[in-house]
Amino acid sequence: MKVGIVGAGAVGATAGFAMVMSGSASEVVLVDMNEKLAAAQAQDIAHAVPFARAAQVRHGGYAALAGAGVVVLAAGVAQRPGETRLQLLERNAAVFGAIIPAVLAAAPEAILLVATNPLDVMTQIATRISGLPPSRVIGSGTILDTARFRALLADRLGVTAKSVHAHVVGEHGDSEVLLWSGATVACLPVDRGAERLKRPLTAEDRAAIDEGVRRAAYRIIDGKGHTAFGIAGGLSRIVAAIAGDERAVLTCSILNDEVLGVPDVALSLPRVIGAGGVLETVMPDLSEEEAAALKRSAEILKEAVTSVEK
Ligand code: LAC
Repeated sequence: MKVGIVGAGAVGATAGFAMVMSGSASEVVLVDMNEKLAAAQAQDIAHAVPFARAAQVRHGGYAALAGAGVVVLAAGVAQRPGETRLQLLERNAAVFGAIIPAVLAAAPEAILLVATNPLDVMTQIATRISGLPPSRVIGSGTILDTARFRALLADRLGVTAKSVHAHVVGEHGDSEVLLWSGATVACLPVDRGAERLKRPLTAEDRAAIDEGVRRAAYRIIDGKGHTAFGIAGGLSRIVAAIAGDERAVLTCSILNDEVLGVPDVALSLPRVIGAGGVLETVMPDLSEEEAAALKRSAEILKEAVTSVEK
């Protein structure tokens, strides 16, 4: 599948690299207002192709997006150290107005995959600007936070991350909700599994894992100025699910009619992803605490999008 990437910065270029190396895309086209950057990134990724599966990598203008099945929106400015994703909002909301009409003029059938922060609000803004159904405007959302949750939990339990099933829902940001109540390992609820693995989970362990997930991006941004590899892996995973019509369950963000009484809000829930984009949404069972936290997350996002769309 041909994938367009608008924004050839760290996230967009690394996502293109991840798609080439994993084989999730057969053709990658990078578009950026800085054509020199797009050309250099495309050439650099193309030099990795001999080590990967066959793929074409090039750069171009919006017209080069024609025929793309997915167009990743990774354009915008990155979080500054200590800056919250929602504080980015004003600076990035203005960017999408020019980009999305040009993308859809070139690739009207494409699924839009939003990577720009603040992710959930940008996903809602992209849905409004594009006029596409929410199922075709997917934000990477908490796919990355879910990966972080599984990685930290797996490390604590002494198993591989692929053997831990746990989800993060809500905002891709400070109000996200780690669903401990639904987490499982070895077909057991995670607490029971931890005991059977002789690695009981303490309240301190849970708090450390929660903090590790929730503050991961801030720590990485403080150290290197941005994050890229984790989000690129998540974007490539979503592209693979679309390209392969996998019907994979991934926590992604789309505009929801209503979440726990909060209308018209984009946030992450477990979604079934296939060729048409989001095919189904699966509302998880929630503890009282998790339901209250998810409602709070929805309210925070609703306030944020209202502030920029008033
Ligand atoms: C992060 C950025 C992608 O969480 O928001 O790494």
